[in-house]
Amino acid sequence: MKLRTIKQVKTWRNQRVLLRLDLNVPIHKNKVRPKDAWRLDRVVPTIQFLLKKQAKIIIVAHLGRPEGVNVKSLSLAPIVSYLQKALKQNISLWAGDLEQCVSRSQALQAGQIAILENIRFHEREQKNCQRFAKKLSHLADVYVNDAFGNMHRDRDSSMLAITKFLPSYAGLLVDDEIRHLESILATTKGLGVVFGGAKVSSKIIFLNKISQQAQGVFLGGMLANTVLVSRGFNLGHLKPSSAELRVAKKLKGPKIYLPQDVVVAKTTEAKAASICDVEKIPKNVLALDIGPKTVKQYLEHLRKCRLIVWNGPLGYFENKYVSKNSVSFAQSLGKIKVKIIVGGGETVAMLNELNLLKKFTFVSTGGGSLMAFLNGKKMPALEALIDK
Ligand code: 3PG
Repeated sequence: MKLRTIKQVKTWRNQRVLLRLDLNVPIHKNKVRPKDAWRLDRVVPTIQFLLKKQAKIIIVAHLGRPEGVNVKSLSLAPIVSYLQKALKQNISLWAGDLEQCVSRSQALQAGQIAILENIRFHEREQKNCQRFAKKLSHLADVYVNDAFGNMHRDRDSSMLAITKFLPSYAGLLVDDEIRHLESILATTKGLGVVFGGAKVSSKIIFLNKISQQAQGVFLGGMLANTVLVSRGFNLGHLKPSSAELRVAKKLKGPKIYLPQDVVVAKTTEAKAASICDVEKIPKNVLALDIGPKTVKQYLEHLRKCRLIVWNGPLGYFENKYVSKNSVSFAQSLGKIKVKIIVGGGETVAMLNELNLLKKFTFVSTGGGSLMAFLNGKKMPALEALIDK
């Protein structure tokens, strides 16, 4: 894929840049906690690149789903505070109507940064509205999209419609993401895929496709539990919907590995848990993690791979009493000396909490966008950045 990137632009000096970022991170007591900030840290190099080149930066981003309403708790103010510290630079937060922001953009100096208040406070943002995008375009001379995590949202005017009105480029993060994710799709030998988490239907299409190409697909979490139920195992309390079971049944083939043993407990808040083989799961319990035999088996196979991709936790990591095997799996995987790409909000949050992020070759900032890309779904916002 031949992206037009910011590296190809000759002159940035005094150019007003509309920089679309994905700054959608959890806000806790009006602050961004360091453990939730990994997505913000990843956009810093693009901002620094543009600052160094003396551009004038106007950042556009969303937080949550306010659906056209001004929701105070979804203000970007906490994100502005975080980025100011990360960049050691003052950033103005521009609220109010777009016309006012346009005049402010004309007064911006080279090397200054402003952030527009949550773009989803505008009712037209999520309607891929040409008129709204045209108004937005008056804020800048060039558009840069570095919002990989939001790349599947082609109804967001600031992702797609805007590209009709301004010369458009990909930022450093989007470029990096695409290069790494393309390497997964291009690997025909020695690919290991580890998938967990809950979103069965969005993952199953990819798993069916990738299992043709992969050496092994190793499942955990709710995804594995749902597939186990679809194959007739008793999973205690778990009752997947008939739609989930229907898709889970389609996942077949010798390369699909399911847990042999699991960690079970009465509730998700339990402070004690036991281990049992999947054939012997008692009634009235929940399977909350993969068991030690499964960890060993998965790692043995994965050590023989050349490229590993991991999306979705293999256990209920919110409860440390039941998720020790997931933790030991993550620690051991991080020690394998091959290229490992991890992605998905929950997986990255877990690895960040365990201080393991640095152990992996590449961490994708995508969740839905990562799955959309790997599934080969059309992504018009990304296509708008490709030289045809
Ligand atoms: C994300 O966090 O996945 C993106 O920012 C997209 O957010 P959305 O699911 O609210 O559109």
